[in-house]
Amino acid sequence: MSKLAINGGQKTCTNPWPDWPIWDEKERNALLEVLQSGKWWYGEKVRQFEQAFADFQGAKFGITACNGTVALETALTSLGIGAGDEVIIPPYTFVATATSVLRVNAIPIFADILPDTLCIDPADVERNITDKTRAIIPVHLAGNVADMDALNEIAEKHNLKIIEDACHSWGSQWKGKGTGAIGDCGAFSFQASKNITSSEGGIILTDDEDLAEYARSYTNCGRRKDQPWYEHYILASNLRMTEFQAAILLAQLTRLESQTIRRQQNASILDEILSEIPSIRTIKTDPRITRRSYHFYPFRVDFDELGISRERFIQALEAEGVPASPGYTMPLYKNPLFQQPDLWLKKRCSWLCPHYGKDIDYTKVSCPVCEQVCSDTVWLPHRLLLAESEDVRKAADAIKKVCENADELK
Ligand SMILES: Cc1ncc(COP(=O)(O)O)c(C=O)c1O
Repeated sequence: MSKLAINGGQKTCTNPWPDWPIWDEKERNALLEVLQSGKWWYGEKVRQFEQAFADFQGAKFGITACNGTVALETALTSLGIGAGDEVIIPPYTFVATATSVLRVNAIPIFADILPDTLCIDPADVERNITDKTRAIIPVHLAGNVADMDALNEIAEKHNLKIIEDACHSWGSQWKGKGTGAIGDCGAFSFQASKNITSSEGGIILTDDEDLAEYARSYTNCGRRKDQPWYEHYILASNLRMTEFQAAILLAQLTRLESQTIRRQQNASILDEILSEIPSIRTIKTDPRITRRSYHFYPFRVDFDELGISRERFIQALEAEGVPASPGYTMPLYKNPLFQQPDLWLKKRCSWLCPHYGKDIDYTKVSCPVCEQVCSDTVWLPHRLLLAESEDVRKAADAIKKVCENADELK
């Protein structure tokens, strides 16, 4: 008789998983308060949230924006990164890490990731440095913090800026310091799937007052503090957050710490059980990471050893009641944007424009670790990590069951 639920066996996880987003009277009242006040526009709530979130991550200044993509773009522009500058980024990330670089007419250069952490490999960063390199954007993948000691050392040695893509790492800390406050600045996203959300939203954190002032101006039409309303000082945009978003985020922030701790505790249950399964490789948490947020729980699987595809594995997990996805299925540079740039970019400024003064052919880029990771990694959603620990244990049992009975899936 078959054991796997996909073949008619008993389903392992029968309790419903927590929904996301989580909200209650706090969000309802906060929204109503803003609605009834008639003050809907970029005011007191935005300021309150900026300070509260900066305090939470241990940064001096917070400047909100309408999403994480433009928060990254604002960070780059505020640091003076522009046309023809090279910025080193990992390829295992959301497209915004690369497009924010292109949006300021700079050139993304891909450095590989480490197989055990899925974060950028400092040694490969160093190998990719040229006389045009101006910055590094480490991505704290799924909340796992990139090796900031090594990256800060490289940045210092080569006079580079560090912009942390902290769009997965609300609450993560490296040696007690919050992400986004470790490099020159950091960018966060509050999009709907994120661990603290207002449907869309973003913030730039920094300890640098001058950078903060520029970022404020860039997100607010080039205005300057205490200057006349219709005076504009820099080429900028309107990237402002609304009072409604800030009010929701203030309510969400009251739960962020306890939810982060709960996810971390449940992730360690998964680590403990999954690390005993021969065909599974769990992702390492560096001991210097003093708190780790989980935007998702990634783990790697030896599908050759199991003799099944990732698609089949995920189908079997879903049948056992465990939500799972393949995550990023290709390194960023394999996207048509980079492989077929002639299609759209020829007449626009990009790495194809003569200003760069160098040739770069992304079809020749190869980051072998990332390519392997894109083919063998499975993600569990962060809402699963908010469940009762008994249910999380069952999710781990379900994964074990699928691995042990993989023959049934052939
Ligand atoms: C790593 C990373 N960077 C940047 C972003 C961009 O954030 P947003 O969707 O708020 O623009 C995301 C969003 O998913 C992300 O995952």
